[in-house]
Amino acid sequence: MKATQNATSLSGRILKSVGWSVMTLLALLMFILASRYLTLNPEVYFPEQRAVYLAHTAGILIHIMGAMLATIIGPFQFLPKIITNRYLNLHRWLGRIYLLGVLLGGLAGLYMAFLAYGGLPARLGFASLALLWLLCGFMAYRYIRKREIQLHRQWMIRTYALTFAAVTLRLWQVVFQVAGVEFINGYIAVAWLSWIPNLLVAEWIVNQIRPKRESR
Ligand code: HEM
Repeated sequence: MKATQNATSLSGRILKSVGWSVMTLLALLMFILASRYLTLNPEVYFPEQRAVYLAHTAGILIHIMGAMLATIIGPFQFLPKIITNRYLNLHRWLGRIYLLGVLLGGLAGLYMAFLAYGGLPARLGFASLALLWLLCGFMAYRYIRKREIQLHRQWMIRTYALTFAAVTLRLWQVVFQVAGVEFINGYIAVAWLSWIPNLLVAEWIVNQIRPKRESR
């Protein structure tokens, strides 16, 4: 009985480490991909939207800079070591910068959503994502101010699942391209597909870690 439990907890730990490493690697790649925008060279802009980004450079740049901060900080905030006494101060500071990234990235993302490629269906998808991102960030902040650690952790898992939409969006785009789906149709689909499955995975993780007696 004990041996079976040990084997289960070992496989659980291996799964967590592999999951964390893959997530962090993809986040790092996204960070590097997005950093091309900081050169301000219009050649790197998404061609279908080049004219829009030239007319709204501040909006897209604020969005990308805030989102880049959240993307790269997020994974490290989930490491168990960072919430030990030794690193708690670092965790707090990184958390403030992360939430500032979500706030700036989310507000500018909401603004850019109204100008997004793909018309109304894509715009609604991106606007919903931006609003939920801001809401989850606000909830995570609110609960930590009340010292409700478990609820803070749960809302942070949701915010990062949404931050990760930038990665999953590009993965879905590859799938659609390989499947020969017309670019605009794929773009409309990814405006929703990039984040709905992520939120479902986040809910599953939240359920796994939720203390058994907690009802919320
Ligand atoms: C999670 C909430 C997010 C929302 C609501 C959001 C929203 C948007 C919107 C509306 C656009 C313009 C799309 C268009 O013109 O068609 C955009 C572009 C962009 N976003 Fe985000 N975004 C989010 C997260 C991120 C993250 C985490 C990153 C990573 C750093 C990121 C990086 C970019 C980049 C690089 C572009 C330029 C377009 C491209 O090259 O694909 N976004 N975003």
